Amino acid sequence: MQSIPIPNISLPVPFSPEQASTFAPHVDALYVYLVTLTAFVTVGITAAIIFFAVKYRRRQHGELPRPIAGSMVLELTWTIIPLLISMTIFVWGASIFFKAYRTPQQAMEIYVVGKQWMWKFQHQTGQREINELHVPAGARVKLTMTTEDVIHSFYVPAFRIKQDVVPGRYLQTWFEATKPGKYYLFCAEYCGTNHSGMGGYVYVMEPTAYQQWLAGGTGTESAASQGQKLFQERGCASCHQVDPGGQQGRGPTLYGLYGKQQAIEGDGTVTVDEAYIRESILNPQAKLATGFQNIMPTFQGQVNEEQILQLVAYIRSLAPSQAGTAGSTGATGAGGPQGASGGSTVGPTTGGVPPQQTRSNPLHPSDQRQGNPSPQAPAGGNTGNANR
Ligand code: CUA
Repeated sequence: MQSIPIPNISLPVPFSPEQASTFAPHVDALYVYLVTLTAFVTVGITAAIIFFAVKYRRRQHGELPRPIAGSMVLELTWTIIPLLISMTIFVWGASIFFKAYRTPQQAMEIYVVGKQWMWKFQHQTGQREINELHVPAGARVKLTMTTEDVIHSFYVPAFRIKQDVVPGRYLQTWFEATKPGKYYLFCAEYCGTNHSGMGGYVYVMEPTAYQQWLAGGTGTESAASQGQKLFQERGCASCHQVDPGGQQGRGPTLYGLYGKQQAIEGDGTVTVDEAYIRESILNPQAKLATGFQNIMPTFQGQVNEEQILQLVAYIRSLAPSQAGTAGSTGATGAGGPQGASGGSTVGPTTGGVPPQQTRSNPLHPSDQRQGNPSPQAPAGGNTGNANR
């Protein structure tokens, strides 16, 4: 399943959007298979209808057909063969689905917030964009997404990814773009008057160009560092310690908490992930950490989804620097814009993982590009000199 040859036919009307991610050839191969299978079955059934209609036509008035007793062999055949055929579709489809919707550990992370009627992005290094998203080619990019208001759907046809965003939840998807270029981004879920205008472009850049773009951005304070400011402004620090080895305050110490199991009042434990942090900010009573009083006020309505994501980024950054997200420290050095404030805040974000380190892709690594260099993507341009 890893190496399906894609027929490279150029049709006068494009059969599918451009293939610009590692998923695209797999999705297209499955689609071609479905279309071929459908065409084959349609032609076969039509031919059989015509053939039998002619062969068994009534030849005389009053002619009666002979009764037929049925055949177990025939029944089994036409049950088992279609079953096997439909299982190929299921297994193949499921394998692509699992690859597309299981996000990789090592990836650049970008936060996405949908809103009537725009897409807002924040890179870990702090850059923000609206309706435009810049990403490097040949790197895995993980999107953590939510919405301020209603359901939207993030859709980049050239990457063959589509993911709904749902109020009150974080959803994740990922891709690895293979070809530098400019690709449409759509909202694919009707969300009100300007739904059709809710879209933009994803710009896939050579890694070096992307680093230059990052470095040239304004407002280059990392997401974690913006979160740290919010944390101070909102008074979170009066109850939550953030230093290594800090004492428990009125609320749990946040240092190193991300990714851990937390015992909660009542019964059980939760994993401290993005969703739990978000819930604890907006609805602190929902899953109260064991041993703490129910005294935290809700911040519902006081922080928007973008700010919550910045707080999440900050809390994630409160950890020993090797925690789970190797390759992060200093990796954004070439882009340079991080660390704008307060030393310890911007450690283990994965925002700056250099593209080379995010290459070991469960689908193809970007080998199409190496075998097929284009003027935009000179072979090797994405490897040797990418970062430093
Ligand atoms: Cu947002 Cu349609």
